[in-house]
Amino acid sequence: MLAVPWSGSDASPAANHDNFLHCLSTSPAANVSKIVFYTPANPSYPSVLQFSIHNLRFNTSAAPKPIVIVTPQTTSHIQAAISCSHKHRLHLRVRGGGHDYEGLSYVASRPFFILDLINLSSVKVDVAARTAWIQAGGTIGELYYQIGTQTTTLAFPAGVCPTVGVGGHFSGGGYGLSLRKFGLAADHIVDAHLVDVKGKVHNRASMGEDLFWAIRGGGGNTFGVVTAWKVNLLPVPENVTVFTVTKTIQQNATGIINRWQQVADRFPDDLFIRVILDRTETTTNSTATGRASFNSLYLGQAQSLLPLLQRDFPELGVEREDLIELTWIRSILYFAGYPTDSPLEVLRSQVPLTRKRNFKAKSDYVTEPMSERALEGIWRRILRPDIEDPELIFSPYGGRMSEIPESSIPFPHRAGTRYKIQHLVYWEREGREATDRHVDWIRELYGYLAPHVSKNPRLAYVNYRDLDVGSNNGAGFTSHEEARVWGVKYFKGNYERLVRVKTAVDPRNFFRNEQSVPPLTAWK
Ligand code: FDA
Repeated sequence: MLAVPWSGSDASPAANHDNFLHCLSTSPAANVSKIVFYTPANPSYPSVLQFSIHNLRFNTSAAPKPIVIVTPQTTSHIQAAISCSHKHRLHLRVRGGGHDYEGLSYVASRPFFILDLINLSSVKVDVAARTAWIQAGGTIGELYYQIGTQTTTLAFPAGVCPTVGVGGHFSGGGYGLSLRKFGLAADHIVDAHLVDVKGKVHNRASMGEDLFWAIRGGGGNTFGVVTAWKVNLLPVPENVTVFTVTKTIQQNATGIINRWQQVADRFPDDLFIRVILDRTETTTNSTATGRASFNSLYLGQAQSLLPLLQRDFPELGVEREDLIELTWIRSILYFAGYPTDSPLEVLRSQVPLTRKRNFKAKSDYVTEPMSERALEGIWRRILRPDIEDPELIFSPYGGRMSEIPESSIPFPHRAGTRYKIQHLVYWEREGREATDRHVDWIRELYGYLAPHVSKNPRLAYVNYRDLDVGSNNGAGFTSHEEARVWGVKYFKGNYERLVRVKTAVDPRNFFRNEQSVPPLTAWK
């Protein structure tokens, strides 16, 4: 058996650290421009590390810390870091925007360094060609900003929160409120630059169609380091329409969600209405109640939306004054939680609008509407007073999502999906007891929902990373058979092709984490 680069007894972290730094500093790339890195001895180390940690659950003193954080300015710095990682057996984690739900881009159970792409973040939009090149350390907010300042009739279908990084987001699919019209972010990638395990730089033509297929949804930190994506931009009208209508349990939220389940994936593709379930207080006597927020983007004008809703979803009771018309870029501000007249520059901020908290999330796919009785069980759990901030988001599929074949890219959740559920719980209280209580809560909810969601396998969205659905062996030697446990939940039949691509491009499993697709051979 061959040895994986870091297998056997790891050299001591201190030795790795010194040799690795020496290797970086003396690499040919460092002769051209300085390779910037931070060790714990550097006063900026904590702030550089924490800046892109978006889940405070992994910002504790007990969480394993990187031996070094490398912040490349050029592709040659990435090549140098990969080469030194091989030589000195220091495990690598790539970090884009740092939004991984399980912290996999900045936490590892063996000595490791972070390759933090934060300085590779430029975006170039070509309005005439309807394309954009985005460096992999950029955010979706920066992409939106660059589109929105140059045109009002082009858009891109990525996520809601502007600070999310394109590095991880596009690697796992990436969706937003125009999903029913356009599909996923990854459906619109037309080229990419990637540094492979040997340090070679590729574009689409040189990496080949198999690898190009795998990186558009097969999960980050698996096939190489993506340094840039090229995407097609999509046409939108000068004005779109948004609304948010809320209903409490007392206002028949349950019955209206039930109706939503019947119609939301069958509306015209231009209409996306998601439902956010959380807890609020009644206005009458300030007791806790469940609230459903129907939150919508329509790629058209209010005058055509209103009759459509009155005909197909009258139960929601939407009125003309609920509907807001604005440009697509201002709808991005709306869904991100900013006042819609904010300067567009707020989209460039890498600091989230709301404070960072601890959270745990899960996902599910629903193919048949669940009963009102089942929905009532969700409310009972949301109303538990000892749970700080529970939330479920139901996002309808259908439309363009149903037309794209399951094997078009690794993301397989297409025709037959009515909606996706994201289960979330946030909390601020520190300490083990609070963490256990909230994590136990979401696991119990997940168990409760099992009869009402997809089965055999119970499907999940890789960008809502959840190590509860299965994990590679912490010691590092996971066979593709063992990884199949979680792999088919994220990728269905595409898992096998991902294993084949991984075997071809990284047979010794250099790029890996707790949920990266392994190669065919189980390395010992
Ligand atoms: P991060 O840097 O943590 O990377 C995630 C994974 O990709 C890691 O394994 C990392 O190693 C790898 N990776 C990153 N850059 C890479 C590169 N250049 N090359 C290779 N591997 C790379 N999703 C969604 O679809 N729609 C949404 O609206 C939202 N909204 C949202 C809001 C908030 C607040 C959070 C925390 C998350 C979301 N997400 C989401 C989920 C998001 O899409 C997912 O967490 C992405 O993987 C985040 O990508 P980042 O680059 O920010 O994370």
